[in-house]
Amino acid sequence: MPESRWSVAVVGPGGVGGLLGAVLARAGHQVVYVAKPDTAAALNSGGIHVRSAQFGEFHVPAVAVPRLAAPVDVCLVAVKATSLEAALAGVPAEALGDGLVLPLLNGVEHMSVVRARFPAQQVVAGAIRVESTRVAPGRVEHTSPFCWIDVASGTAPRVRVDEVAAQLRQAGLEVTVRDDEAALLWDKLAFLAPLALLTTHAAAPVDVVRDERRADLVAVIGEVTAVARASGAAVDATTILGMFDRVPAGMRSSMQRDAQANRPTELDAIGGAVLRAAGRRDIDTPVTARLVDELAAREATWATL
Ligand SMILES: NC(=O)c1ccc[n+]([C@@H]2O[C@H](COP(=O)([O-])OP(=O)(O)OC[C@H]3O[C@@H](n4cnc5c(N)ncnc54)[C@H](OP(=O)(O)O)[C@@H]3O)[C@@H](O)[C@H]2O)c1
Repeated sequence: MPESRWSVAVVGPGGVGGLLGAVLARAGHQVVYVAKPDTAAALNSGGIHVRSAQFGEFHVPAVAVPRLAAPVDVCLVAVKATSLEAALAGVPAEALGDGLVLPLLNGVEHMSVVRARFPAQQVVAGAIRVESTRVAPGRVEHTSPFCWIDVASGTAPRVRVDEVAAQLRQAGLEVTVRDDEAALLWDKLAFLAPLALLTTHAAAPVDVVRDERRADLVAVIGEVTAVARASGAAVDATTILGMFDRVPAGMRSSMQRDAQANRPTELDAIGGAVLRAAGRRDIDTPVTARLVDELAAREATWATL
C-alpha cells in the first residue's frame, strides 16, 4: 500500500490509460475510469487485464463511469487528441474539486484545451514514452519493457507536481520532474512528428523510411527541430537523426497503425501543431507541410467511405 492512498480518475482506459490505471490500482490507489458507455460496462463487469513486458501479467477490478461525480487527487487524461473535447465533457471542473489534471497526450496544443476547462494551477503537462495497446475493452498489451513519464508545469505549484510524481513512482512508474513544460512537450514532438509523418506517409516501418526516404527524413527533422528549438526545446537535428538510426528496424507509429485501420489519426495534433507553431515563428517547413497536406487528403478520402 502507498503511504497515502490517492483517488485517481483515468479519462480514456485505452493503451496508456488502461495500463496506468491498472498499475495504480495494483499499488493500492482508488481508480475510477471515465469511459464511453459500452467500455464502462465492459470494465465494470470484467475489470482490466494487463500483459506487460515490464509489470508482468495481472488483473484488477475496475470501476468506470460515463461522467466523474466526485473529486479525485489526480485526473489522468489519456484519450487521443481527436476525442479530447468529447472526453473532457465527462469531467466537470466542479466535480474534480482541486485535483490535478495530468494529460498524457502526444502534441502540444491539448494543454490550452485543458487549461480552458480547469484552473491553471491544477494543470500539469506530461509526456509518456511507452508502447501499449488496448486490444479489447479492458485488455491492454504493454509491449515496451519501459514506461517513462516526464512531468512539468508552468502553472501548477512545484510541490504538487512533485507530489504526483512521487505517487506515480511509488506505484512502480519511472517519472522525471522537469522544469520547463514547453521543452518537455517539444522534446517529445521533435522525434515523434518526423516518425509519425514519415512512417504513415510511407505506410512502412522506420527502417524503410530511413533507407528509402532519407532526404525527406533529414528535411523534416531539420524543420521540426527548428520549430521545437524556437519553442523552447534544447534539441538538435543531428541527435534526432542519430535516434532514428538507432531505433530497432520494424518500429512503427500509432499514427500509422490508425491510418492503416482507417481510424481518425492525430495528424492535426502532431503535424498540424508543428505547422501552426512554425507559422507563428516564421519558420519555413515546406516538406512537413507537403506531408501533412497529402496525409490529410488521404484521411479525407477514407473518412467519406
Ligand atoms: N499507446 C501508446 O503506446 C502511446 C505512447 C505514447 C503516447 N501515446 C499518446 O497517448 C494518447 C492516448 O493514446 P492511446 O494509444 O492510449 O489511445 P487508445 O488506446 O485509443 O485509448 C484511448 C481511449 O480513450 C477512450 N475514449 C475515446 N473517446 C472517449 C470519450 N468521449 N470519453 C471517454 N473515453 C473516450 C477510448 O475508448 P474506447 O476504448 O471505448 O474506444 C480509449 O479507451 C494519445 O495522444 C497517444 O498519442 C500513446
